[in-house]
Amino acid sequence: MGLVKQKHFYNRMRKKITAGNWKMNLSYSEATNLVKELAQVKQEDNEEIIVFAPSIYLKTLIDQYGKTCTIGAQNGHQEDSGAFTGEVSMFQLKEIGVTRVLIGHSERRAIFKESNDLLKKKVTKALELGLTVFFCCGEQLEQRESNNHFDAVAQQLEESLFHIDATRMSQVVIAYEPVWAIGTGKTASAQQAEEMHHYIREQLTRQYSNEVAQNVPLLYGGSCNPTNAPELFAQPNIDGGLIGGASLSSIDFIAISEAQKIS
Ligand code: PGA
Repeated sequence: MGLVKQKHFYNRMRKKITAGNWKMNLSYSEATNLVKELAQVKQEDNEEIIVFAPSIYLKTLIDQYGKTCTIGAQNGHQEDSGAFTGEVSMFQLKEIGVTRVLIGHSERRAIFKESNDLLKKKVTKALELGLTVFFCCGEQLEQRESNNHFDAVAQQLEESLFHIDATRMSQVVIAYEPVWAIGTGKTASAQQAEEMHHYIREQLTRQYSNEVAQNVPLLYGGSCNPTNAPELFAQPNIDGGLIGGASLSSIDFIAISEAQKIS
């Protein structure tokens, strides 16, 4: 297969993912109503809608809607059990039916001081348990302004993700979220986003192989909304979005997922 044909082939093979990161938002009834609506959205085989919900809602949402809407966790502790007051382990999450976990969100890194080393342990544990890891990476504003954004992302990948072997990469999705675009209303331009997604795929090729790199879904996150989603999702290396604010409204979130169909 020629290179262009091959890219087109992999593009179609990779899942198109619309993932909502609710963070610490929504009341219990708002959460169940929202998932009820999402569960009715028709998805093709290569599309997936996922909601990363607060841990206290996970079991009910999975039991009630898990067959038609994928529900994931926003965080998980790497130890199975122990004296870690207030924490929920990935082992416990798995027990209640969770299959997807976000690791390395910039709010976990900045507010909860999660280091690359800790994130590495979390990635290892999640994969051992058979969970799919949504690994978040992205540069700070100063790093972009000083033209260090590629190095910043490469370091996050190197120090927390690239210790895993190639076979496990089929359980990984990478979300590129420039910190300056998260919750700020400032989106990376489609060109900036594509450039970084292309770079991440190059790093995957260098570390593993072209085949591995071409199969890992790469999502963009950071003020993604129904207006900018079509252009972002049309980029060859962007396979979907990790959506914060706009995932709290069914109208906006469904509109963003619709943008996948035309990309
Ligand atoms: P945002 O958040 O869409 O509100 O910018 C994205 C995220 O934090 O995942």
